[in-house]
Amino acid sequence: MATGERFDLVIRGGTVFDGTGAPGLRADVGVRGERIVAFGTVTHRGDVEVDARGFAVAPGFIDVHSHDDYAVILEPEVPFKVLQGVTTDVVGNCGSGVVPFEAGLVRFRRLHPDADPTPWEGFKGYLERVDSVRPSCNVAVLIGQGSMRRGAMGNDTREPTAAELDRMKAWVREGVAAGAVGLSTGLIYEPSRYAKTDEIITLVRELRGPSGGLYATHMRNEADGLLDAVREAIRIGEEAGVPVQISHHKASGRRNWGRVRDSLALIDEARARGVDVTTDQYPYTAGSTTLAAVMQNNSFRADSPGGLGQLEGGDVLISSSPKHPEWEGRTVATLATNWGVDTEGAAQRVLDGEGDACWVVVFTMDERDVKAVLAHPTTMIGSDGVPTGGNPHPRLYGCFARVLGRYVREEKVLELPTALHRMTGMPAAKFQLLDRGTIRPGAYADLVVFDPARIDDAATYTEPRQAPTGIRAVYVNGAAVARDGRHTGARPGRGLRRGR
Ligand code: ZN
Ligand code: CU
Repeated sequence: MATGERFDLVIRGGTVFDGTGAPGLRADVGVRGERIVAFGTVTHRGDVEVDARGFAVAPGFIDVHSHDDYAVILEPEVPFKVLQGVTTDVVGNCGSGVVPFEAGLVRFRRLHPDADPTPWEGFKGYLERVDSVRPSCNVAVLIGQGSMRRGAMGNDTREPTAAELDRMKAWVREGVAAGAVGLSTGLIYEPSRYAKTDEIITLVRELRGPSGGLYATHMRNEADGLLDAVREAIRIGEEAGVPVQISHHKASGRRNWGRVRDSLALIDEARARGVDVTTDQYPYTAGSTTLAAVMQNNSFRADSPGGLGQLEGGDVLISSSPKHPEWEGRTVATLATNWGVDTEGAAQRVLDGEGDACWVVVFTMDERDVKAVLAHPTTMIGSDGVPTGGNPHPRLYGCFARVLGRYVREEKVLELPTALHRMTGMPAAKFQLLDRGTIRPGAYADLVVFDPARIDDAATYTEPRQAPTGIRAVYVNGAAVARDGRHTGARPGRGLRRGR
């Protein structure tokens, strides 16, 4: 580089964590256009100079588990994401995808009741739409098996005909060609759950190949049947010859607490025989889903609960009920008492009044399990944030800062370089996001500057719409999208294609 040249941006004197898990080192980062061009001691001046002394500098966080498929189009500034340092959002999780268009839209109206976007054609069309909208973060997409099954055969519980299976396979092939990073299932949800193991293997096989995608799964059971569900996920990956990502790994329901030791052992065993299986997690003891899913899984029945485990009315908090905001913030137990009915009766009354668009927060996990999963080397971070109205689960705003504040700094569950690797370099490699997730010359300038002594989540179950503290700046493709907890309004993101 000739002397006298200038960079667009130089972030000077921070402790740089390169995303590989290596310890931080004091260095400058030089950016020109969308890419990092220098790393070390940078003598060139930048048109913008940022004094990062006393701050950490890391690659932007990759949220491997999101449900922002429509949010990035309807609300392209996605403040809940970029304000917590997320620079790449992996959408299409839990079997809910954007293809075929109509079936996808039906599912996402549960999150965005009034959404009415202009249709797109296939995953190619979706990624092109993302490119033209230009959200504030980058977007990678998974092929949602549930939406495809609905598109091919409605809500039927039977096996698909050969023709229906061919339609689904064709959608998968189109997704793979368009650059989708993998295929997801949501096996507690209708109609994803009606697919038997072999049907899933048939679809996942389409992802096989040196540069094919991965299989991400919200497993059939995260409760009494957790271990069999892990075995099924591994079998699908192994028989299809495709890497596996177990979504939001947990043991759900009191009587299953502690079982993550066994599920993590199954994962270690599979890895030892060469299966590429990893997981992701949001660092909370409560999950979030639709009330319809709680009921479809018989969660209030002690004798036969499904994939969520057995729940009490007090474990289930109404987080979003657009037609009846007066129910938000109440538990099903409270409503049952108010109405003088039993737990299932109250839940049914809410469902009748609100339908599919009722979202709940479910307190189902043990803190010790949360820590055990987080400490395990195969765990990445995925928010599972659901951008609903009302009071969404606080993970939507706080997930990544909570890992770095509560679990790294305070509880010391894992070291800072390791935690950052699990949010950056590790997911970039697994999801084949080329030139993302690490700080080195040539990589895209997706960067987060934060104070490791102050970073914290502020979002709570009752006040979830709060950005974290301690994040000084966030850059996407070289442009600042957030400074000191405020969105800059910039929208430099784009659709990412697997391996490109
Ligand atoms: Zn899920
Ligand atoms: Cu999810």
